[in-house]
Amino acid sequence: MPAVAMTVNGKSVTGDVDARTLLVQFLRENLRLTGTHVGCDTSQCGACVVHIDGKAVKSCTVLALQAAGAQVATIEGLAPNGAPLHPMQAAFRENHGLQCGYCTPGMIMSAIDIVNRLGHDLEDKTIREELEGNICRCTGYHNIVKAIAAGAKAMQGQPAGQQAAE
Ligand code: FES
Ligand code: FES
Repeated sequence: MPAVAMTVNGKSVTGDVDARTLLVQFLRENLRLTGTHVGCDTSQCGACVVHIDGKAVKSCTVLALQAAGAQVATIEGLAPNGAPLHPMQAAFRENHGLQCGYCTPGMIMSAIDIVNRLGHDLEDKTIREELEGNICRCTGYHNIVKAIAAGAKAMQGQPAGQQAAE
């Protein structure tokens, strides 16, 4: 079994994986970081979104070995060890941007990536277009869009290092 090494939420990690092990499996099964969800087997739902080297990626579409040497950030890295919630997490809570919560980790990791790419003043239309790869079965999206607009504003002026959740 090949060994793989990468940095996850700022910590160096290693593990033995099959050549076919997906990054999402490595995160959930080897590292027990179960905040990253699996909601489909067709790369459509976005529940598995993490950041690789600062960019949102569906971790079910990446082999663990392809992430060798990368900086990976998961939802657990946003507010580690009881730290205050990341502004985007707080915005989802305050704006009721979730119901069952299954899609939420992927929504939040995608949302932070949207802010990193497009800035803090996001129109609803832009947010809806950008969420094309994230499916929610519960909320009807309205409050998710509100939450992301509010979270984008709240991320303004955030100390460097928290913007991309690395
Ligand atoms: S589990 Fe990755 S897109 Fe659905
Ligand atoms: S809150 Fe249930 S799937 Fe989005």
